Amino acid sequence: DHDKIARIKEQLKSYPDYPKKGILFWDIFPILQQPEYFRMLKDALVVEAKKISPPVECVAGLEARGFLFGPLISLELNVPFVPIRKKGKLPGNLLSVCYSKEYGQDVLEVQENAIKPGKRVLLVDDLLATGGSLLASYHLVKKAGAQVAASLVIIELEPLKGRDTLPTDVISLIKL
Ligand code: PRP
Ligand code: MG
Repeated sequence: DHDKIARIKEQLKSYPDYPKKGILFWDIFPILQQPEYFRMLKDALVVEAKKISPPVECVAGLEARGFLFGPLISLELNVPFVPIRKKGKLPGNLLSVCYSKEYGQDVLEVQENAIKPGKRVLLVDDLLATGGSLLASYHLVKKAGAQVAASLVIIELEPLKGRDTLPTDVISLIKL
């Protein structure tokens, strides 16, 4: 509920000019260092994931910070977890998409047969800025022949309007 989200929000720490000048970096790690808050956050994410209809059939987490939350959600939903990784980190045949994000350019990859065709995939990350990372992940899911059920993030940086660039539903717990 609102009170719990407000209490989680209070645990965030911000760092001006990191990792580049002009970027205000929001650090989620203070939450993970306090089990009470980490559990509150996990429960809030699971509540949102369970609301999605028709139900989510697969959770895909974005490297790196999406890996902290995606698996927690996938276990609660009892569906597969699939990692979406940065270039050069996954073995085997891969699908890949180039993208640009708030502070740079990169390539995201997923293993070719990890996401099954036709499945409803929930994309999970810690933060939505420009939307570049989630848009690239959306394209990876489409390349796999599957659908994006929604994009779920903890923090949404509203002034960057990443939401408007995404063809998916966007669910965010904290709007900054
Ligand atoms: C950050 C953040 C999101 C992304 C958001 O990740 O965790 O994944 O940027 O930016 P966007 O909406 O403009 O794409 P980053 O790739 O910087 O690092 P990480 O590997 O630590 O998650
Ligand atoms: Mg990230």
